[in-house]
Amino acid sequence: MNYDALLDSAIQRLHDEGRYRTFIDIERRKGQFPRAKWVRPDGSERDITVWCGNDYLGMGQHPVVLEAMHEALEATGAGSGGTRNISGTTVYHKRLEAELADLHRKEAALVFTSAYIANDATLSTLPKLFPGLIIYSDELNHASMIEGIRRNGGAKRIFRHNDVAHLRELMAADDPAAPKLIAFESVYSMDGDICPMEEICDLAQEFNALTYLDEVHAVGMYGPRGAGIAEKLGLMGRIDIINATLAKAYGVMGGYIASTAKMVDAIRSYAPGFIFTTSLPPAVAAGAAASVRYIKTAQHLRDKHQEHAHVLKTRLKALGLPIIDHGTHIVPVHVGDPVHCKKISDMLLEHYGIYVQPINFPTVPRGTERLRFTPSPVHTLDDIDHLVRAMDKLWSHCALNRAEMSA
Ligand SMILES: Cc1ncc(COP(=O)(O)O)c(C=O)c1O
Repeated sequence: MNYDALLDSAIQRLHDEGRYRTFIDIERRKGQFPRAKWVRPDGSERDITVWCGNDYLGMGQHPVVLEAMHEALEATGAGSGGTRNISGTTVYHKRLEAELADLHRKEAALVFTSAYIANDATLSTLPKLFPGLIIYSDELNHASMIEGIRRNGGAKRIFRHNDVAHLRELMAADDPAAPKLIAFESVYSMDGDICPMEEICDLAQEFNALTYLDEVHAVGMYGPRGAGIAEKLGLMGRIDIINATLAKAYGVMGGYIASTAKMVDAIRSYAPGFIFTTSLPPAVAAGAAASVRYIKTAQHLRDKHQEHAHVLKTRLKALGLPIIDHGTHIVPVHVGDPVHCKKISDMLLEHYGIYVQPINFPTVPRGTERLRFTPSPVHTLDDIDHLVRAMDKLWSHCALNRAEMSA
C-alpha cells in the first residue's frame, strides 16, 4: 500500500477541481482591527484590511473582553486542566452559562468548545434521549448540524431551504406519534437570508415537534439584547434548543446550547462531545461572559454594524454589482465563477490591501461562487469607499456583468 501516493492523489483532486484551499497568514493588531499584517510566504509583510472576518462587532479587541481575560489568566493560569466532569468546571464556566441562560431567557445553558461541537454533540445525542426521533433539517444547514444528524443514526428528512410547505408535506407523511425535531438556522451565513421562524414554530406546534435553532450568525447582532433573530421576533419562548457561538460577534471562542434545565442536564449527561473533552480555558470563558454581558446593552454597536452593511450594499448596488441582499449584515457579491472569484480576491489583496477570501464549492453550490464581505462597526466609511472603488475597477478589469442601472 502506497499511502503517500493516495495522499498525493487526494490533494491533486482538489487542485484539479480548483478547490484546493490556500490559507493567508495574517497577524491581527490589537486595537487596530480590521487592520492587520499579511505575512507572505517569503516573510515579507503588507498592511491589509480584513473584510471577511466573523469578528462581526470587533469584540475580539474590546477592552472589556481583554480585561476580563487578563484578570482570569492572572488569577487561574492557562488551561482548565480537565473535562467538565473531572476538575474542569470552574466558576468562570458557571458564570458564562448563567449569562447565556439569561441572554436567551432559558432555564439553563451548556458551553462547548465551539458551536460546531455544540451542534454535532447535541444533534447526535438527541435520538438517544428520544428513541425513534425524526429530524427535519433545512437543506442549507451548516456542516456541523449535518454531521450531528448524520452520525446519530436516526431518521432524517431534508426540507428545501426555508420551504415551509415542503416541511409540512414531510411532517404530515410521518407517523403522528413519532417524536420529531426541526433543525434550522436563523441567519444563513452564505446568503445572509433569514428563516421563516414563526411559520416553522407554528408547524412544530401543530405536529408536536421540538425546535432546534442555530443562531450562530445572529447572536450579539439582532434583538434588543443581542440574543438573535428569535429575540428580535419575540419567538425565543417557542424555540426549544438554541445553539450559538462565542467566536463570532462575541469575538472570543466556544459554543453553547440554551434550553430547559432538564434538556441541558440530559445533554450534559449523554453527549460524548461534551463529556470527553477538556473544557475551555477559564480566561476564554471569562472573556466570552464579559462580551455577552457588554453586548446586552451595546445597541450602538448593533446600529453601527447595520448602518455600515447598508452603506456598503447601497454603494455596490449603485455600481450595478450583483449583491445578494436579504437585509442582514452579510454582503455577498455574486461572481458565479471560481476562477474569477479567486482572481478578484487575489487582486484585491495584492493591489489594494483588501482581504476577502473567495467562497467556492463546496461551501456554496457551483456557479454561485462569491466574495462575502462582512462590514463591522470598526470599519470606517473610508474603508468602505476604498473597497467600493477597488471592486468597481476589478469588475471592469474582469469584464464581469453588471445589473441594469436605473437612471
Ligand atoms: C451556521 C453555523 N453554525 C455553527 C458554526 C460553528 O461555529 P464555531 O466557529 O463556534 O464552531 C458555524 C461556523 O461558521 C456556522 O456558520
